[in-house]
Amino acid sequence: MERKIVLRNATAEDVESILDVQHASAGAGAWELGDYASALADGGIFCLLAEDRVGERVVGFLVGRTVPGEFEILNLAVKNEYRRQGIGRRLLGEALARAHGQGARRCWLEVRASNQPARDFYRALGFAESARRQRYYRDPEDDAVVCLRQWVAAGPAP
Ligand SMILES: CC(C)(COP(=O)(O)OP(=O)(O)OC[C@H]1O[C@@H](n2cnc3c(N)ncnc32)[C@H](O)[C@@H]1OP(=O)(O)O)[C@@H](O)C(=O)NCCC(=O)NCCS
Repeated sequence: MERKIVLRNATAEDVESILDVQHASAGAGAWELGDYASALADGGIFCLLAEDRVGERVVGFLVGRTVPGEFEILNLAVKNEYRRQGIGRRLLGEALARAHGQGARRCWLEVRASNQPARDFYRALGFAESARRQRYYRDPEDDAVVCLRQWVAAGPAP
């Protein structure tokens, strides 16, 4: 069956579906229901969904936060059986376009050093690995790699 994937903003009714995707996605941030509820109520945070219109189900999500001049990716996952079909690229592309429209001139995120697929994904999407934070994660312990993508040369935030 052909898949038709559309992107849309999440609402409070989507939190359970987002958690389903997160729980099926090792490497995603271990958020709880209340974390998503707070994020959706926060005007500085947006949550994008990828939905398969055929099954009417959420198959991916991205949560990001804008602060003056910057955008931070807080969580991102695509359901296993939907990976390597460009959905992560679409979610990130849409998020970056929105953030840029709101004045962001750089985007950053932290990823587990052991999460090589995600590191490869971000590298493919134009991010550079700019720093490493030793033993940043717990359960299991891991370093964080800070990934950064800039639109313009570093300078004061617009
Ligand atoms: C990281 C993740 C969101 C990528 O989503 P996706 O929809 O599979 O990504 P895309 O299909 O858009 O991939 C875009 C490009 O990224 C790179 N890429 C993606 N997954 C990759 C992998 N497993 N290995 C190597 N490169 C990869 C490729 O260059 C790919 O382009 P290609 O398929 O034409 O070669 C997905 O693997 C995921 O949900 N992982 C588990 C959760 C997670 O780790 N989240 C990140 C937390 S920081």
